[in-house]
Amino acid sequence: MTGWGLGLVATSWHRAVAAVRLCVMAAVVMLVSPAAAAPGHDAAIHNGVASCGGSTCHGRQEATGPRVRQNELLTWQNPSSLTGSHSRAWRVLGEPRARAIGARLGIANVATSAECISCHGDPAPHRGPQFNQADGVGCEACHGGSTNWLASHTAVDASHEQNVARGLWAVDKPAVRANVCLDCHFGSDKPGQFVTHRIMAAGHPRVAFELDLFTSLQSHHDEDADYARRKPVPGGVKVWAVGQALAVKRALSLNSMRSAGSFPEFYFYDCRSCHRSFSDDPAVAITARTNPGRPIQPGTPVWNDESLIMLNAAARVAAPELGRQLAAQSRAFHASFAGDRAGTIKAAAALAKTSDALAGAFDRARFDKAQTFAMLDAVLVGNAGSYTDYQGGAQAVMAADTLISALVSSRAIDRGTALALRPDLDRAYAAARDANRWQPAEFRAALAAVAGKVRDLK
Ligand code: HEC
Ligand code: HEC
Ligand code: HEC
Ligand code: HEC
Repeated sequence: MTGWGLGLVATSWHRAVAAVRLCVMAAVVMLVSPAAAAPGHDAAIHNGVASCGGSTCHGRQEATGPRVRQNELLTWQNPSSLTGSHSRAWRVLGEPRARAIGARLGIANVATSAECISCHGDPAPHRGPQFNQADGVGCEACHGGSTNWLASHTAVDASHEQNVARGLWAVDKPAVRANVCLDCHFGSDKPGQFVTHRIMAAGHPRVAFELDLFTSLQSHHDEDADYARRKPVPGGVKVWAVGQALAVKRALSLNSMRSAGSFPEFYFYDCRSCHRSFSDDPAVAITARTNPGRPIQPGTPVWNDESLIMLNAAARVAAPELGRQLAAQSRAFHASFAGDRAGTIKAAAALAKTSDALAGAFDRARFDKAQTFAMLDAVLVGNAGSYTDYQGGAQAVMAADTLISALVSSRAIDRGTALALRPDLDRAYAAARDANRWQPAEFRAALAAVAGKVRDLK
């Protein structure tokens, strides 16, 4: 919009608002009071992507909208990149891999099974006439059922707060966003939203997630001056840190963590701590490494602490007091697995409480350049001994990527400088690309190379 005459902005803006209003009136809007909440999922009616994607609404061919881009539909549908993943989420259930998973689990049709479509689609139980399962993870799966705000959110004077009060989910807030994404990108207690180890063992991919990076990968919005007038811009460091804190809290508080038959639910553990090869060769190189954060005996399955490792790094820098508490509680939690189940549940509850407190502290904090550099250093150098396993490594490289991007967006370093870090970052990504070919030595060398160059920047 920069460079446009003010008058032109004003006229096209009014024209756009008028058009948006027309299209909302044309859509079938069901203004009924929300039905009684089904356990867990959104109680509001979801009207479907068709009710958002009209050509004068969010379905423009170009990002020419005066306030928001208005081509969000095209971005969400992008066939050639990860950006369009959500529009394909249901369709992948028709592909051979999904059908094979279904066959192994004894599910006749994965494309209609609640065990799959609760994440590979919008799980809302209340649906308007334009709702279409084939749309996969549609707009309202993240923005909330639109019945009570669809008509009003296009008004010139509708504030973000008013839209939220009418039921739009405030995914601009890092904590709200984290919880929305984690439902599907980790798991929840709501019906159908958990990838049990049983589903993993049938062939489901490992579920990896980092809030800020994944937000950018599917992003269909601009955080420009106009956005900042309407909503606070949290910045990548905050989104990353809050995302890690709430990922830890989520993992520690799900019901299946608290109870799952006579075995614990294996989903919560580091896959490779069980899935290793063994040999009769006396000289065999044992692949398990002792980890300074985990006071456990060799041969013990490892709780998947990928986000906990990141949270420890963020806390050391931004909330040292809580950070010391977190480090002690993390060690006690790992150690608790040698004792009884009740002890583990108690240690998990204490750790979840501290993680929640950290999410709050990060949410209130303003991260400056010095703190961002300190966090990057904590991830690249301070934490290096903790990257014994694939899952921690995968989180570390995503964290480094996110923190470097945050330095670029806050103009602490320029794009060219960041590009010079790319080759070593790509080496680290390559060493952590495949869980079956995790190369810890190569990974550490690549991170150390990034760290060396970052040190020169300060
Ligand atoms: C808790 C949410 C959740 C549930 C339940 C779930 N999935 Fe997934 N699934 C995901 C996510 C998230 C991904 C993307 C993983 C990644 O790449 O990080 C995925 C990826 C996949 C993929 C790979 C898709 C691709 O593009 O290659 C297949 C196939 C799949 N799931 C099938 C299934 C089937 C079949 C079921 C039911 C038995 C199921 N999923 C249940 C969340 C879920
Ligand atoms: C995977 C979750 C997800 C899906 C699916 C999704 N969005 Fe978003 N959307 C977000 C997030 C996160 C933001 C950025 C935070 C914010 O401002 O709300 C955003 C931002 C936006 C914005 C910019 C808001 C502003 O104030 O500038 C618009 C408009 C939007 N989305 C529309 C849509 C439409 C239309 C669809 C469907 C075609 C859609 N979104 C699908 C998560 C999602
Ligand atoms: C209702 C469930 C659901 C919600 C909510 C959801 N996702 Fe997803 N997401 C999925 C599924 C399923 C896939 C895999 C689709 C595929 O591979 O075809 C996916 C894929 C992605 C991908 C592509 C990368 C990958 O691993 O395949 C990104 C990026 C992503 N999601 C980001 C987000 C973000 C950010 C949020 C929150 C703002 C979010 N998602 C919310 C279900 C969901
Ligand atoms: C506590 C130990 C443990 C953990 C942790 C664990 N698994 Fe398993 N896994 C098993 C056992 C036991 C089986 C069943 C083997 C059998 O059926 O003979 C299995 C089977 C599998 C299989 C089927 C392999 C085959 O060829 O039959 C896959 C795939 C799998 N797990 C993936 C995963 C993934 C992905 C993770 C991490 C999210 C994971 N596992 C975590 C113990 C574990």
